[in-house]
Amino acid sequence: MNPYDIKGPYNPHPPKPQPKKRPLELGMEQLAGVQHIIAVASGKGGVGKSTVAVNLAVTLARLGYKVGLADADVYGPSIPTMTGTEDEIPDVEVYDEMGEPLPEEAEITEDCKEIMIPVEKYGVKWMSIGYFARPEQALIWRGPMACNALKQMLLQVKWGELDYLLIDLPPGTGDIHISLVHDIPLTGAIIVTTPQTVALADVEKCVNMFRNPQVNKPILGIIENMSWFTPAELPENRYYIFGRDGGQLIADKYGIDLLGQIPLVQSVREGGDDGTPAALQDGPLYDAMHAAADALTSGD
Ligand SMILES: Nc1ncnc2c1ncn2[C@@H]1O[C@H](COP(=O)(O)OP(=O)(O)OP(=O)(O)O)[C@@H](O)[C@H]1O
Ligand SMILES: [Mg+2]
Repeated sequence: MNPYDIKGPYNPHPPKPQPKKRPLELGMEQLAGVQHIIAVASGKGGVGKSTVAVNLAVTLARLGYKVGLADADVYGPSIPTMTGTEDEIPDVEVYDEMGEPLPEEAEITEDCKEIMIPVEKYGVKWMSIGYFARPEQALIWRGPMACNALKQMLLQVKWGELDYLLIDLPPGTGDIHISLVHDIPLTGAIIVTTPQTVALADVEKCVNMFRNPQVNKPILGIIENMSWFTPAELPENRYYIFGRDGGQLIADKYGIDLLGQIPLVQSVREGGDDGTPAALQDGPLYDAMHAAADALTSGD
């Protein structure tokens, strides 16, 4: 007889109720395999942040680390040009609301989640809003949209296992920066400056932003860029055209490490313009980047 007094045919082995699958949430899961997340920042524009970020990424990859770089400059992305990847369109994987891969023929609905696959070149995984907007399109976004785009560039990307994920920040210390440092589990920041005193005043603002109690993220070091000019034909000569030792001054004042001094060399600018970062070749730039990378990684 039916001991449970259940209507219908008696089944002595009823199927166990299946645990309900949780919908896929776009939280920090794409960053779970990343060991160090490092923002490359500067108070002032044009000091060579993107150049330093790209060449540091390439150098770390040459040293055997697994590296990614997210271009957080959503208003003026320069990573695609600097890496010669401007014609790439990243693949996108689509998942249904339960986190299962969406079959190809299925319709993409609002509940689906899209994960972008970073572009790989020179041993580095690159991601930039520039891959989704044509260069002549000006990205005029209001604050919240820009913050959202930035989060997507970081959280909706299949980074996989990485030793270092560098984030090339836009210049300044505005909303985007505050939002980023709140929402992303940053290991810390590298601040880029030139030796000039005007640049240094902006660096101080940047230091204060990261040290603000509400932000409170470690500053891993300062990289002084354009420290001296070295002509290709006279590699031993150094001309201090933007002043001297400003980076060291700031480092001493705030008790921060000076990770490196990067010379101003023509091949760096040329490499940035034609998409082949100078650090791919041996030379004064690679030597300087190698020293900075060693200083950075020795802190692990
Ligand atoms: N060490 C260097 N030697 C030669 N040229 C350099 C060096 N560093 C940067 N440059 C050149 O200076 C210009 C500005 O550099 P970059 O775009 O990296 O600055 P940025 O700080 O990222 O600027 P933005 O604030 O606009 O994002 C570029 O043309 C770049 O090639
Ligand atoms: Mg830049």
